[in-house]
Amino acid sequence: MPSATMNAQVRAVWTSEEGSMAKQTAETRWAKIIQGTIDDIGETAAADDVDGQKRAESIAIQIALKAIKKRIEQNKPLTPLPDDGKLDIQDWNKQLAAIGECSWINCPWLFGECYMYRSIQRILNSSKHWQNYDVFKRQKDSTFVKSRAAVEELASRYMQIVADTRLAQNESKEDAKKLLFIEMTEIALWGNATDLSLLANLTLEDLQKLQGREAIKKSQRNIVDNDIDDVWAYLQRTAGQASRQIDIVLDNAGFEFFTDVLYAAYLLEAGISTSVRLHTKEFPWFVSDVIPSDVESLFEHLDSSECFPGREYLDQVIPRLRKFFQSGAITTTSDPFWTTPFSFHEMPSEAPALFKELQHSYLVIFKGDLNYRKLTRDGMWPHITTYEKALGPLGKESDVKILALRTNKSDVCVGVPTQSKVDALNEEAPGGAWIRNGKYAVVSFNEGR
Ligand code: F6P
Ligand code: MG
Repeated sequence: MPSATMNAQVRAVWTSEEGSMAKQTAETRWAKIIQGTIDDIGETAAADDVDGQKRAESIAIQIALKAIKKRIEQNKPLTPLPDDGKLDIQDWNKQLAAIGECSWINCPWLFGECYMYRSIQRILNSSKHWQNYDVFKRQKDSTFVKSRAAVEELASRYMQIVADTRLAQNESKEDAKKLLFIEMTEIALWGNATDLSLLANLTLEDLQKLQGREAIKKSQRNIVDNDIDDVWAYLQRTAGQASRQIDIVLDNAGFEFFTDVLYAAYLLEAGISTSVRLHTKEFPWFVSDVIPSDVESLFEHLDSSECFPGREYLDQVIPRLRKFFQSGAITTTSDPFWTTPFSFHEMPSEAPALFKELQHSYLVIFKGDLNYRKLTRDGMWPHITTYEKALGPLGKESDVKILALRTNKSDVCVGVPTQSKVDALNEEAPGGAWIRNGKYAVVSFNEGR
């Protein structure tokens, strides 16, 4: 197998792998995702106020997108990306050359999927009128609005958590502080579930049940590698450090992003961090990932009583969140490395400056499935492989404190404590469902020592 997709320890999952989520995704979902972008551009171009030249250009873009879709459906070879004036194109093509001959349904999943999103962006970059157009915005917005009940209820729960945190601090109640930390961490964790039914459309009573201590215990059962105690111990041990910047490498816009911003605000309110840096993607990526424009879009949505009519708690929460952004306690940043096809094992060599920054961070929180795939090289590791080992150069002695909050939605999962636990999971959720269906999760921590 080509060296670009292997290291001494692990084989990366390919889209040709029988029975894999990789194969299923490549065969059934990719063409649909491209079709979604074609439809979206058509809808935007059809609006009355669209400039004639822009509308005319949309036809060429749709034709180019249709060509990608056809190549996926016909399992054609992956070919070098034509120049679009951006510096990263050469890296993509170098990486493709290192893989060697491959096709859409016979390529490393991680590379193929990233290549698809870069191919869409290449078409837009090469246009005159659509360069900064977000083909997934319509979808992101409509999904966010659907999680209305959960957003409103979460705002109420957040205000309660802030009040409880104050009380616990004043009365030095360590157990209470820890439970609140676990609750906020788990809100950010389950915000990553594909199936938002876990949190969406709930009544206040349901949500309180879900986020209450009993519910935390119940959902903890589905966390197949849970290092939350180690994270808390690390935070306690190091609380005296003057600068405690936490980096959150974001995943999805909308509901998940709302939980992440609340988490960031909580980390500041609780004095766990002194600043939080949110990492977004530079261009539309994996459909729903946060790009810079999604930050203001979050606030526009939250401010709108048409989207979120239950204002009682939202009107208290929003100014608190905005204040953190205005004061610089919460900042946003993008690094081109996040939208490359490289796994994070290649970060020290491919993005040394970013790697150094993360080494200096107090804690780096990676949200979501794709980040986890990149952390673990999308490798077919035995599930009892330690998280530290699967992190490769970002693991032992890396000096990076890494927490992954990820609901399981692909083929890789490590850190399960024992083989008997793996056997039990296979029995409980057969056919790899526990690695794929978003109902199981990991809270995996490594201190990089
Ligand atoms: O369901 C598969 C998938 O599209 C993967 O390709 C990808 O890893 C994941 O979903 C995206 O999920 P997340 O938004 O949690 O990274
Ligand atoms: Mg995502």
